[in-house]
Amino acid sequence: MAGEVGVAIEAERLKGREALRKLRESIRGARHRVSRKLVSFCSGSGCKAYGTEKVYQALLGEVERQKIEKDVEIKRTGCHGFCEKGPIMVIYPEGIFYPQLRRNISRR
Ligand code: FES
Repeated sequence: MAGEVGVAIEAERLKGREALRKLRESIRGARHRVSRKLVSFCSGSGCKAYGTEKVYQALLGEVERQKIEKDVEIKRTGCHGFCEKGPIMVIYPEGIFYPQLRRNISRR
């Protein structure tokens, strides 16, 4: 998708603020058209201490059980800066933040 946006930028020569505004809106729109959810799972040392691995494995199992692997991408990330609230998960593109996860969150 990033390649598509790049082509649009090269194909047009911007003429003024209005053209820039339209380009910005088209890029934002492209970002929001992502059909696949991204689940960002903190695997920093703070979250690990709170048991992130068990929650992560439970979530993987639930995604597999529901056969939604094509709709959901799960990635481990580094520290989000909220270690005392771990384990932490963020769902994109919405940016929904889930602190203090427990294994039963995967059923929601
Ligand atoms: S280790 Fe997870 S927020 Fe810091």
